[in-house]
Amino acid sequence: MYLTREEERIYEGEEGWAYQIAMKILVKLGDLFEADRLIPIDSAHVSGVSYKTIGDAAIEFLEALNKAGAKSKVRSTANPAGIDYNHLEEMATLPKLHEKQTEILRLYRSIGIDPILTCTPYYIRKPKEGAHLAWAESSTVIYANSVLHSWTNREGGPSALAAALIGKTPDYGIHKPENRKAEVSVKIETDLRNEVEFGALGAYLGKILKDEIPFFEGLPHPEETWLKHLGAAMASTGMSSLFYPCSSCPKSSDRLETLSVDKGDLKNAFESLSTTNEDPDMVYIGCPHCSFEEVKEVAQRIKGRKVKDGVKLWICTSRHVRRKADNFVKIIEAAGGKVISDTCAVVTWLKEINVDVLMTNSAKTVYYAPTMNRVETIFASLDQCIKAACQK
Ligand code: F3S
Repeated sequence: MYLTREEERIYEGEEGWAYQIAMKILVKLGDLFEADRLIPIDSAHVSGVSYKTIGDAAIEFLEALNKAGAKSKVRSTANPAGIDYNHLEEMATLPKLHEKQTEILRLYRSIGIDPILTCTPYYIRKPKEGAHLAWAESSTVIYANSVLHSWTNREGGPSALAAALIGKTPDYGIHKPENRKAEVSVKIETDLRNEVEFGALGAYLGKILKDEIPFFEGLPHPEETWLKHLGAAMASTGMSSLFYPCSSCPKSSDRLETLSVDKGDLKNAFESLSTTNEDPDMVYIGCPHCSFEEVKEVAQRIKGRKVKDGVKLWICTSRHVRRKADNFVKIIEAAGGKVISDTCAVVTWLKEINVDVLMTNSAKTVYYAPTMNRVETIFASLDQCIKAACQK
C-alpha cells in the first residue's frame, strides 16, 4: 500500500507508539484487502465498549494507548456500554462490573472518543451522503451505507479505533464505487407491514446472501425504521454491509441472479426466530436503539396501561433521543416501563438480573441473545410485546 511521507513517519514510530500501532493496524488491513492507499474519513464509530463484550485485555490496550497520549483525529463516537448509570436499580449490581465499565468509559473519553453510547449515532448527527466513514457495529454500518448513502466498511472495534487515531482508513471494499454495485435481485412476493416482518426478512436473507449486495423489487416505500430492522437482521445472520431498497441502483451486470421471497418463506423465517413460547420476564424494544418515532409509538400504545408485576419492560434509546422524547418517556415510565440509555439488553448482563425469557420485536436480538445472554427468546410484534408486558 502506498504511504505518504507523513504516513510513513507515523508508521516508523516518529509520532509515538500509539499512532504507530494504529497505523500498523490500518496498513495490515489495507495489505490484506489490497488497498492501494489510505483515505481521509469524516468520522469513526467505535464498538467494543461494554465490559461484558471486551473483557480485561481490551482495557489494558486502551490504557496503553492512553498512556502513550493517543487522541482521536476526527469526530469519533462510541457504541453502547454495559450499564445505564441513571437506571442502576435495573442493572446487575456486581461492583467489579461497575468499576471496569467506568474505567473503559474514562479511557475512551480521554482518547477523544465521545461516549454517546448508542448504536444509532445517525439520530444525533447524520453523516453526509458520500462521506467516507470508519464505523463499527454492523447495524450502524448497513444503515449508513443503505439508507444514508455514506460509505463505510464493516469495521471491527480495533480498526475503527485505529482509523479514529489516524483520521484515515484503507481504501478498499465498499469505499470503492465498483464494489457498491447490486449483485442479486430480491423479489418480494408478499406484503410486509411492520418492523418485525422486515426483521424476519433480513434474518432470512442474511443467511442466504452472506455478503452479497441485494436490491429489492416490490418493497413499497418502507419506513426508515423498517429498513433499520431489515439491515440489522441481515447484518446479524450474514455479513452484508449494503442493500438497495429499490431497483434504481448501480448493478454489477444486466443479468443478475433473482431470489424470490413469498409469504411462506417469511412465515417460516418469523417462526424460526423464537426459542420458546413461555411467558416473558423481560419485554425489550430498542435493538437497534429506538428513534424518536419508535419511543412515541410505544408511549401511544402503553398510555393508560400498567406493566405487570414480575415483568420488566425496557425501551432502549440514546440519551439524545430520550431527552427529545421526554413527554413520551414520562408516559412509558408512568406505566411502569423503563426508558434505558447507554446500554442494551444484549450488551448488559441479563442473567444477573434474573431474566430467563426475553420477548422483543428485534430480529437481531433474538438471533444473538440465546448465546450472548443465555436467555430464551420470543420474537413478536410491538403490539404483542406491549400486550405481554402489560396487565389486561
Ligand atoms: Fe444496538 Fe445492542 Fe442491538 S448495540 S444493534 S441495541 S445489540
